[in-house]
Amino acid sequence: MMPRTVMSLNPVVCRSLQTIRRLQVPPIAWQVQALQCNRRFSQVAKLAHKPTDVTPASTSATDNQSSGNDDIHYDDHSWRQQNHIWTTAEIADRIKSSSYKHQPVVASDYIMKGIMNMLYHSFNLITGYKHDNPSAGSIEWRLIILESFAGVPGFMGAAFRHFHSLRSLEHDQGMIFTLLEEAENERMHLLTCMEMFNASKATRALVVAAQMSMTPFLIAVYLVKPAAVHRFVGYLEETAVQTYSNIVAHVEKPGTDLHTAWAALDAPDIAVQYWQMPVGQRKWLDALKRMLADEAHHRDVNHTLASLPPDAKNPFIKEHMDDFSQAADRHALKRSSEARLKAALQAYNEEKK
Ligand SMILES: [Fe+2]
Ligand SMILES: [Fe+2]
Repeated sequence: MMPRTVMSLNPVVCRSLQTIRRLQVPPIAWQVQALQCNRRFSQVAKLAHKPTDVTPASTSATDNQSSGNDDIHYDDHSWRQQNHIWTTAEIADRIKSSSYKHQPVVASDYIMKGIMNMLYHSFNLITGYKHDNPSAGSIEWRLIILESFAGVPGFMGAAFRHFHSLRSLEHDQGMIFTLLEEAENERMHLLTCMEMFNASKATRALVVAAQMSMTPFLIAVYLVKPAAVHRFVGYLEETAVQTYSNIVAHVEKPGTDLHTAWAALDAPDIAVQYWQMPVGQRKWLDALKRMLADEAHHRDVNHTLASLPPDAKNPFIKEHMDDFSQAADRHALKRSSEARLKAALQAYNEEKK
């Protein structure tokens, strides 16, 4: 389902296999896994060079049913940054992708993966996270810290590209929007978590420490090699998908701490509205599944951006337009300005045909 279309090998995958062979890593299963995973991340990269008939996300009427409570939280979610509204089938597809891992290809990939692994294990230690039967308390502050930091790289990358476009007097090729949408999406994850949990003073201190320490690091790396930051974020998102998959599995499993604490909880209004959660899918568990799907998307986006030349066209623009179009359909009667913008987008598309 996503990334969409394009099934042939490309140079990124070939380089990956060549690197694996050079390193003489023998197990054939490992090589096959590398091929499959890197192919997934690089499929979308190919779209940057060849406009295609990318299939719009299929969204059923049931899946898009409005929460009926549309007038709250507009202050924290602009309709210009339209998030993807996941269908049930798309969520299932992203859950299935939770074991996908990008295999490092170039030296900076190995360095970023090494740093990510170190941070991941330190983070597990600090938050008291264990894979088997984690406690609700250990997950609560883990998610707050994770989501507060996850909103940093997209915004920073967007700022760099914005200033570069101003300096160079050239187009950005549409990447700024994708990165801003990612940052907005992560902040909505955080705000959703804050509706469910309380942040202690220690958690708030860690949030500040994570932002103060990691932001200068990311800025320094971005100045030297922007692709390395996207690769780093890709690896970060892999761990986020892994964490959310484990949480979802435990909430669904009777007898676990997370099932006892969370299985009966309703999703907060902010989540119901943001993801347009349909009636019958408005539990906290359903919100967690949507966060998992978002993280899987960030993983694919960042690995794709890491594999693209910096001046390549954004292969995700069509998805943004589809998301916007569907939102405009939902709100056309209430928000005439959205409908006018939708018409402008359609006119633009027609003109390009
Ligand atoms: Fe997130
Ligand atoms: Fe994410």
